[in-house]
Amino acid sequence: MKNLDWSKLPFGYIPTDYNVRCYYRDGKWGEVEVCSDEYIKMHMAATCLHYGQEAFEGLKAYRCPDGKVRVFRMDENAARLQSTCRGILMPEVPTELFEEMVTKVVRLNQDYIPTYESGATLYIRPLLVGMSAQVGVHPASEYLFMIFVTPVGPYFKGGFSTNPYVIIREFDRSAPLGTGIYKVGGNYAASLRANKMAHDLGYACEFYLDAKEKKYMDECGAANFFGIKDNTYVTPKSTSILPSITNKSLMQLAEDMGMKVERRQIPEDELATFEEAGACGTAAVISPISKIDDLENKKSYVISKDGKPGPISTKLYNKLRGIQYGTEPDIHNWTKVVIE
Ligand code: PLP
Ligand code: COI
Repeated sequence: MKNLDWSKLPFGYIPTDYNVRCYYRDGKWGEVEVCSDEYIKMHMAATCLHYGQEAFEGLKAYRCPDGKVRVFRMDENAARLQSTCRGILMPEVPTELFEEMVTKVVRLNQDYIPTYESGATLYIRPLLVGMSAQVGVHPASEYLFMIFVTPVGPYFKGGFSTNPYVIIREFDRSAPLGTGIYKVGGNYAASLRANKMAHDLGYACEFYLDAKEKKYMDECGAANFFGIKDNTYVTPKSTSILPSITNKSLMQLAEDMGMKVERRQIPEDELATFEEAGACGTAAVISPISKIDDLENKKSYVISKDGKPGPISTKLYNKLRGIQYGTEPDIHNWTKVVIE
């Protein structure tokens, strides 16, 4: 294993030894290639550069206390990538190819999988780009699907501790019938100014309302939102948020714990009624929310009165982490051992 101080890792990019690539040409996927070059040679008129024909995914590999390395729900990431492909007219990456390449790239870079104790993980970043030249607005005929990995620390400062969020009304991340449900680069380009604004104001993350009515909670930065009250896990139903695999898992875990689960619109003023709330995602895991400010409406919804994560969020976090690290029974078969 590389001699790095894993516990001090930020959520950033560190080069590893290999990435894996597969080209789609003449209507079919080719052979998987192992590559040590961090660069891609592409045509200057490639559709990914001009018309945003780009999709990505994010998942993690965990070095577990039993010595094995597990990956969490990669079939779900494959399915979401396929949905994105349909959304922006790219050829679907078959689940078997996706899983084969994830497994391969993790094994090839196993020296970079952080220790269990460090709390850091190996972030896996699959991406699919339109490669062939187009000047008219049309899909490419050739594509590159590749996966790189990089060891990462916590996405939000402090890991599992509360952070303040702010509702940004000046910018929308995605339109009600736009690409918000897909994991395409354009959504993140649209979020950069809101994210900077939130950070400049001293908040951990920006919060989006629904773009049409500016009335309902959508999602926060690169994470879904959940609130907890009356033994119920409540999370937004919206046509413009990314279907988070972490959120889907938490809904199941909440149900397993005997809680009610509601996926529905959440009006902003309902925030005042939540006993706990959090942002959730692969990078964020669960990031408990201390308060959500709405500066324009001069409102501050204080969620954690003592500034600490609440008991249910903590229980959900421990359960999810336990499954990911193989210390809790994986009754839903969510993890796959990629290194024995
Ligand atoms: N929402 C957005 C916009 C994201 O980028 C992510 C990260 O992938 C999520 C939510 C969380 O999704 P997941 O739990 O599948 O990582
Ligand atoms: C993830 O949680 O995987 C994300 O996509 C977050 C991000 C860095 C965009």
